[in-house]
Amino acid sequence: MNAVTAFAHESVLEPKICTHTARVGVIGLGYVGLALATETARAGFTVVGVEVDPARAAMVNEGRSYITDVRDDDLRSLVESKKLTATTSYAALDGADVLIICVPTPLTKSKEPDLSYVTAATRDCLSAVRPGMLVVLESTTYPGTTVEVIEPMLAARGLRAGDEVALAFSPERIDPGNHGHPFRSIPKIVGGLTPSCTRIAQMFYQQIVDRVVPVSSPTVAEMVKVYENVFRNVNIALVNELTLLCDRMGLDVWEIIEAASTKPYGFMPFYPGPGIGGHCIPVDPYYLSAKAREYDFHVRFIELAATVNDSMPYHVVSRTTTALEASGKSVRGANIMLLGVAYKRDIADVRMSPALKILELLEKRGARVTYHDPLVPQITVPNPGVLDSVALTEEALSGVDCVVLTTDHSSVDYARVLRCAPLIVDTRNRLRDTRAPHVVRL
Ligand SMILES: NC(=O)c1ccc[n+]([C@@H]2O[C@H](COP(=O)([O-])OP(=O)(O)OC[C@H]3O[C@@H](n4cnc5c(N)ncnc54)[C@H](O)[C@@H]3O)[C@@H](O)[C@H]2O)c1
Repeated sequence: MNAVTAFAHESVLEPKICTHTARVGVIGLGYVGLALATETARAGFTVVGVEVDPARAAMVNEGRSYITDVRDDDLRSLVESKKLTATTSYAALDGADVLIICVPTPLTKSKEPDLSYVTAATRDCLSAVRPGMLVVLESTTYPGTTVEVIEPMLAARGLRAGDEVALAFSPERIDPGNHGHPFRSIPKIVGGLTPSCTRIAQMFYQQIVDRVVPVSSPTVAEMVKVYENVFRNVNIALVNELTLLCDRMGLDVWEIIEAASTKPYGFMPFYPGPGIGGHCIPVDPYYLSAKAREYDFHVRFIELAATVNDSMPYHVVSRTTTALEASGKSVRGANIMLLGVAYKRDIADVRMSPALKILELLEKRGARVTYHDPLVPQITVPNPGVLDSVALTEEALSGVDCVVLTTDHSSVDYARVLRCAPLIVDTRNRLRDTRAPHVVRL
């Protein structure tokens, strides 16, 4: 395919985008897709979301959000004004002008990229793809996916990407639970298959965010996203490693980070924690390392960072064991409450959460573990299958031997925790303002 070919239908799609009359299909209504669908509908486009989970599709249509960053009343008004609908049926994409794929990109058991959701979603929406459309992949993936996977799938259907269909990759960069950076304010990277694909994708995203940053290809856009996440992963590993050293040297790592953060240039603070979790930071680096191996290249930083980050739940358990011993108790038979099981503050997402690993390790050492999380009412555990969040009452807190503060949700009454729990292992430095002897920091 000629890289400079103009997208033949630009003149048809362009006015529809500019007047917000283009019909937009969003595939996968999770953290990324539901936020995008909501913002796109709010900008005035008519959006249909295709979601395989019927319960989620039904909730959207009832104006009930399952994503903390999307508010019920916003969703409800968009649904009521018919700007946004959700369905499990791909047939609803017929007549769409823009299709955006936002499905998961997890790892297989052997930590290889699992593109099965992307290929299934692409395959299922192919019957709705016709000349004159814009197709965008937003799922985070290894550099090369759009060109090596999506473009051939279109071609197999007789659709010439870059000519008949505009094809682009535009990574999502939202940070769920972080209200300091609203959707609109986060610049969007866009890399099209051809300059004309980039232009039309850029034009579309300009309608919903304040700034769009075009790059020269989908592969560059894919690499930008994984680089951003590897950057974070590696820097978290660095500060986690420093934490392990500080522990051995009897230094307070938090004090060191706070002081280093006063440097006005050339330093960016990262914070230690019980380990990394979620669908991005622990996962995306493996997408890059798998691709790199095709080029006989080993991204050593990624493996090294994983080694350190994966050791953090073990460190938390060791800290907890030592703290219990110092108060004359053994971890075996101890009642331990995990405070927070979401992988980070103010979201309900427990995917790959280090708290789950800590729970498993503590139970293996013979502790009886309960948890409280204001946003996660129930978790799935190997034994007994499900565990319910316990209420954070004075009795519950004073009845345990130790509270391990694993997630620093904003809505928790920390004064009560401090007052009632006999021992607290604070992995997030949430209780930074106290020097109470029963609080142990990471
Ligand atoms: N969560 C984040 O903070 C974040 C941020 C940036 C990028 N990303 C990336 O965005 C992508 C989506 O992540 P997410 O967090 O929104 O995932 P998610 O699991 O929250 O949502 C994905 C949704 O897609 C649905 N789905 C799966 N297969 C489908 C199919 N074939 N057709 C229709 N729907 C389907 C699932 O039921 C689910 O509701 C991933 O690649 C992720 O790495 C996530």
